[in-house]
Amino acid sequence: QTVALMAGAVGKDGYRHYMEKELHEHPVVIGQTLQRMIDPVTRQVVLPTLSFDLATLPRAVITACGSAFYAGLIGRYWLEAEARLPVDIDVASELRYRNPPLTEGGLGLLISQSGETADTLAALRGLRSAGQHVVSVLNVEASTMGRESDAVLGMVAGPEISVASTKAFTAQLAVLASLTIAIAQARGVLSPARQQHLTASLLDLPSRAAEVFVQGDAIRAMAAIIAEARDVLYLGRGICFPVALEGALKLKEISYIHAEAYAAGEMKHGPISLIDRTVPIVVIAPSNILFDKTLSNLQEARARGGRILVFTDAQGAARLKDLAEAIVVLPTVDAFVAPILYTIPVQILAYEVALLKGTDVDQPRNLAKSVTVE
Ligand code: G6P
Repeated sequence: QTVALMAGAVGKDGYRHYMEKELHEHPVVIGQTLQRMIDPVTRQVVLPTLSFDLATLPRAVITACGSAFYAGLIGRYWLEAEARLPVDIDVASELRYRNPPLTEGGLGLLISQSGETADTLAALRGLRSAGQHVVSVLNVEASTMGRESDAVLGMVAGPEISVASTKAFTAQLAVLASLTIAIAQARGVLSPARQQHLTASLLDLPSRAAEVFVQGDAIRAMAAIIAEARDVLYLGRGICFPVALEGALKLKEISYIHAEAYAAGEMKHGPISLIDRTVPIVVIAPSNILFDKTLSNLQEARARGGRILVFTDAQGAARLKDLAEAIVVLPTVDAFVAPILYTIPVQILAYEVALLKGTDVDQPRNLAKSVTVE
């Protein structure tokens, strides 16, 4: 009902669907969220006043549902790699019943667009009673989770009407990346030069994100191949594996095509048996330290007749041109922010496939925007 009310108040601004409008809002939403997290003059991350000390956190537990969980997976990667903070992560529907041993005074980090998802809320309450400092990354700050958290980190995404989450995901990532910088600094593991570098790569993102939309034709060419398929594999490695998960989820949600995401290195342990001409393989492969590993995974897939569709940058495209049937060339960005940038075309791809399939993009069958029951 909330969604219906909001939909009445928020127009589509000439776009065909709310999802299309919200996809186009990515650059602005990332920019606004970063403006809130990072002081424009000092370029330092500014957090709300906390009742605990970031420097002494023993560890963190991250939990969420759906796309927000995939944002959490990327957050784990950042917190471990940059802040050297041990992180446990699970979907909220599992975590709430897992009863893991937790050290008092740890960080319980919840991520939710709505702030009302029943499983995430239950996990929040469980973490609180286990003595964790509860911090929620929320779009709707005036929500039940907002009220029950020790601190709220607000994304500035504006109302998201389309059932499938889009702009809230990149806003969540902008918050998590900023939080990572703050925790890494508090723990004394981030050099000033690295801090400047990471912050600069974040602040550069809105412009790079806007450039993604130039690739509309290349994304539509990929969509035409996928729309014919019954099953699709999504591959990514390292920090881009969660982007593959998000791509597969979005495709399932709105086009009803079966899609599965695999960490590219795991392909040889099962999904490689599925590969033939009828199962397109969508690959998230910026030219980072894992690029060569991904490349050899793709050569294995190609040798078995797989049709390879790649999201990469100019350098990656030059190396993949003989292997891939379709390539979307994205702006070159720092590895730290690549998962934020690459999410955008991967979500657009799902939207374009759904258009070709003629599904109800904004209100896919059986799905709800906010799942307030268990
Ligand atoms: C539903 C939506 C998803 C969303 C998930 C978590 O399944 O369809 O798009 O990612 O809930 O919602 P939340 O509001 O907690 O982020």
